[in-house]
Amino acid sequence: MRDMIDRLNTKYPIWNAGMGAGIAGPELASAVSEAGGLGVLGCGAMQGADVAAMIADTKVLTKKPIGANVILPMSDGSDVAACFDGGVDVLVLFWDDIQPFVKDAQSREIFILSQCGSPEDAVRAADAGADGIIIQGVESGGHVSSSQKLSQNLETIIKHVNPLPCIAAGGLSTGAQIKDILSRGAKAVSLGTRFLATHEANAADEYKNRLLTSRSEDTVVTQLFDGGWPKAPHRIIINKDYNTWVANGSPDAPNRPGEGEYIGHIAQPDGRELKLSRYTTMPAIKDFTGSIENLPLYAGTSIDNIHTIESVENLFKILLTEIANADK
Ligand SMILES: Cc1cc2nc3c(=O)[nH]c(=O)nc-3n(C[C@H](O)[C@H](O)[C@H](O)COP(=O)(O)O)c2cc1C
Repeated sequence: MRDMIDRLNTKYPIWNAGMGAGIAGPELASAVSEAGGLGVLGCGAMQGADVAAMIADTKVLTKKPIGANVILPMSDGSDVAACFDGGVDVLVLFWDDIQPFVKDAQSREIFILSQCGSPEDAVRAADAGADGIIIQGVESGGHVSSSQKLSQNLETIIKHVNPLPCIAAGGLSTGAQIKDILSRGAKAVSLGTRFLATHEANAADEYKNRLLTSRSEDTVVTQLFDGGWPKAPHRIIINKDYNTWVANGSPDAPNRPGEGEYIGHIAQPDGRELKLSRYTTMPAIKDFTGSIENLPLYAGTSIDNIHTIESVENLFKILLTEIANADK
């Protein structure tokens, strides 16, 4: 078996989660890799040509290893092909069976991982030939494949897939938490929300600022924002559209308030506008015009420990100091 962790040889066991629609874009992923972690591009909901451009831009900014994340239920295959052709070092797949992609990835010397929320999914990915598993806990921001806490999943899944390396995701935002999770057998951590609160993340400032004024009790796991990816639970910060839906008795689609209405648009690199309708899965990226009260504000319980927006470089300094000081 290929030893992914040794061969990647990053200085620190800290990855950013590949947050989709390019929230984890070239700026964020390259800064994380440059800081000594593994930067992972968020290719979810993107077409192959845009993914190819994102990989090329990232490779201008760093020569260190990089990863890319693809959401399989939203994929038409062009995104995975762009990752293969672009020569990323790590491909993280989410939500569906990775088996169809394993041989191709490995023949190109790309490590292939599956983010899994249950022992059954993790064993299936391991049997398919994964080089590693990202273990997700229910604390996670964004789409959540688990109903179990991270600590519980970690204990069971590590045993089930041993000796495959496991990376932990969900609710982690401090050095003390990272140290604790590594002491329980995780080989690295994958942080989403904590890296969302950085200058380099390609998210709207209003969305980033909402992370600072919200706490974990302001988050909820729901299936409300389902446009483009139905029946997939996701953790969000409660906002106006969520409250309006609940106040109206939480009806199913297509009977939700304002169903299908235009709520804003995203400027595309070629000058076109991507029009968004209510209950889209699309997050508030920087180029969004509209109100964040109408979009899913993906965030994990990890917001409890996020009080400032940092540069990635500074965030690494903070986390590494916290790790060094933990248990002193
Ligand atoms: C804004 C945002 C977008 C996300 N997008 C993706 C994605 O495209 N693909 C994916 O596999 N996971 C995605 N996730 C989930 C992460 O992979 C990870 O499981 C989660 O961020 C861990 O919890 P944390 O946010 O508390 O660190 C996203 C998370 C957030 C916060």
